[in-house]
Amino acid sequence: MPGIDDALMGQVRSRFAQVDECPQQGPRVFFENAGGALTLNSVVKTSTDYAAIPDNQGRDNVGSHELVRVINKAKDDMRVFMNAVGGQFFVGESGTELLFRLIMNACLGTARGGKVLGSTLEHPATRSACDRWAAIAGQEHVLIKHDDATGTVTADGYAEKVTSDTVVATILHTSPVTGMSVDVAACAKAIRAKAPECIIIVDGIQHAAHGGMDLEKYDVDGYVISPYKVFSRHGYGVAWISDRLNAVPHNNLINGPEDNWEMGTRDTGSYATLSDVVDYFEWLGDAVGGGSTRREKFDAAAEAIKAQETVLTDAMIHGTGNLRGLKDLEAVSIIGGVDNPAREGLVSMTVNGVASADVVKRLNEEGIRTHLRKADHYSGNILDPLNLDGCIRVSMCHYNSVQEVAKFLAVMNETYG
Ligand SMILES: Cc1ncc(COP(=O)(O)O)c(C=O)c1O
Repeated sequence: MPGIDDALMGQVRSRFAQVDECPQQGPRVFFENAGGALTLNSVVKTSTDYAAIPDNQGRDNVGSHELVRVINKAKDDMRVFMNAVGGQFFVGESGTELLFRLIMNACLGTARGGKVLGSTLEHPATRSACDRWAAIAGQEHVLIKHDDATGTVTADGYAEKVTSDTVVATILHTSPVTGMSVDVAACAKAIRAKAPECIIIVDGIQHAAHGGMDLEKYDVDGYVISPYKVFSRHGYGVAWISDRLNAVPHNNLINGPEDNWEMGTRDTGSYATLSDVVDYFEWLGDAVGGGSTRREKFDAAAEAIKAQETVLTDAMIHGTGNLRGLKDLEAVSIIGGVDNPAREGLVSMTVNGVASADVVKRLNEEGIRTHLRKADHYSGNILDPLNLDGCIRVSMCHYNSVQEVAKFLAVMNETYG
């Protein structure tokens, strides 16, 4: 399927801030989207507008009523965008904080002696939370080993390890180190086949910018995203929880509403920017000719995003114009293999005989921003089994162009070819 054409790409890029320029560095190609995607201009404006408002929610005045309306609208928008039936959306301090909180409550709210199932693919946000709270709740944390060759984990892996006493399970939707996605619906199905009541919590933080989320299909109980990684801004995370997870005991104010999971006064502006993000996906779906309902447009946007990201990663790996791709540079190795259908806009690689930090530095000098992943507490789970002390992560989004990939490949060919 073709990616986003030049005319539409111009419109797409005009909607984002700092798309080809960094205020510190000047012109640059942004291939650090897994560290934080570009921000929509609409989000920048909304954040400024709401920062000026002194009113609080829950008062009987027109200013306050408007804030509550905006929050409710954002929740409704997210519900359609992520196809969530039942349950509720709420915001927290960050994606990590929300994952910890959901997992803590899930462990504490389920049977002692049960099992908490996850995988070695996971980001430490879920893995550390399970490690800590399973122990405190008197449960055993069981880990499925991910496949080093493909950089992902499968439903078969879950099917093999799940037991009828699995009370909590975690799934990483997309790895921020390998860039490979996981079939969440299939994993959840495998878990529910043996443990139908299991509380399943998904880390969707790396996946969200790729669109196409469908919570009803996934049949899970918690799904967490970090808005700065999906075209909004820093400072908060968003969670959806099912009715089942909602009912689990959790921190709350005495005599307060039982289903409140939010801790204190919310930033209305943060909610308002979620509506901006949803509007953007809807606009993109419309622009690529996608259907009449909002869901159809979100699906069309996700398809267009996938197609464009595939064009970009194919160009990066196989080459474009007369530039050789990464697979043809002898010194370069690509994590997760050359042709991997699970890849979501991200290529992690190493250059034989060159420290990954030096490659990132060299690319930076040429105005191409990538990121060094070290075998530390964030990425050691992926890099240690591969005997790597680091890798270069090149993470793209649908607003990146083949011309930008060509700039990257020109430097790679010239320096390491
Ligand atoms: C998959 C995944 N989970 C969790 C996190 C942590 O997110 P945050 O720093 O927004 O809490 C990240 C951050 O990159 C991530 O990619």
